[in-house]
Amino acid sequence: EKVAVLMGGASAEREVSLMSGSGVLQALQSLGVNAQAFDPSERDMGALKQEGFTRCFIALHGRFGEDGTVQGALELLRIPYTGPGVMASSIAIDKLMTKHIWLADGLPTPAWKKVDSVAATRVAFAELAAAGQPMIVKPAREGSTIGLTKVTSLEQCDAAFALAAGTHDEVLCEQFIAGDEVTVPVLGTGAQARALPVIRIQAPDGNYDYQAKYFTNDTRYLVPCGLPEGEEAHIQQLVLQAFKSLGCRGWARADVMIDATTRQPYLLEINTSPGMTSHSLVPMSAKAAGISYPELCLQVLTLASL
Ligand code: DAL
Ligand code: MG
Repeated sequence: EKVAVLMGGASAEREVSLMSGSGVLQALQSLGVNAQAFDPSERDMGALKQEGFTRCFIALHGRFGEDGTVQGALELLRIPYTGPGVMASSIAIDKLMTKHIWLADGLPTPAWKKVDSVAATRVAFAELAAAGQPMIVKPAREGSTIGLTKVTSLEQCDAAFALAAGTHDEVLCEQFIAGDEVTVPVLGTGAQARALPVIRIQAPDGNYDYQAKYFTNDTRYLVPCGLPEGEEAHIQQLVLQAFKSLGCRGWARADVMIDATTRQPYLLEINTSPGMTSHSLVPMSAKAAGISYPELCLQVLTLASL
């Protein structure tokens, strides 16, 4: 077996991917796996075949990596790869498509509106920011909170739309759910898929943004999450349903908000190539389940398929 760890890539999350990829590469090598780094933004995908790679660990995030494109190339090359397949990846990268499917399957997700202008964003604010709650404006296909604004006044709509639209993407406005922010990894395929322990995230000012995600050390991660036991199990069950609803396999991580008043969990999105940096969440949850970082990498790699 010769393994390529796909990292870097051409998305806005390139830097994050390089951090994820180097962690995964080191871990696999420490277990004696014959693994090498492969940056698809610098190399031709066809080289994977020519150089005899037999398996790929996808540590790419965002577009051209987490969105079904790289998965499609690997299908054509017939090289098994980690994580969800072409269709699940391309649906999950798009928060709008994801919501349509979850809604059709009766799974809870915050109310939203797709917007194509500042004017439409202002209309959405009037509809979604009810009862003095903020509204989230974000691009449909970005990760790591890039391009996201928590809008608390009508005046902020202009800059928020411009920022999200500036990522050359469709833009959605979403009702903000005030309450607990949690994230839940799923590991496995088909009947073997299991939700790992829930992590509760407490960013210092309540904004779990790019900086708080990767560079500061004052975000608190609670695992065990401290939620009432029935609630944690309920959320794990919901996330497993969300994973299956999109047709995911291998692994993924769902982000969820729990309404502080009603305790209703709302699904925000599923990341089909979750971060594996030193600050990332799946490794943290896996550790709480007794799975070390290298063991996690190996399990994900073993689940690779076409
Ligand atoms: N999009 C980042 C990498 C994550 O969800 O972990
Ligand atoms: Mg994401």
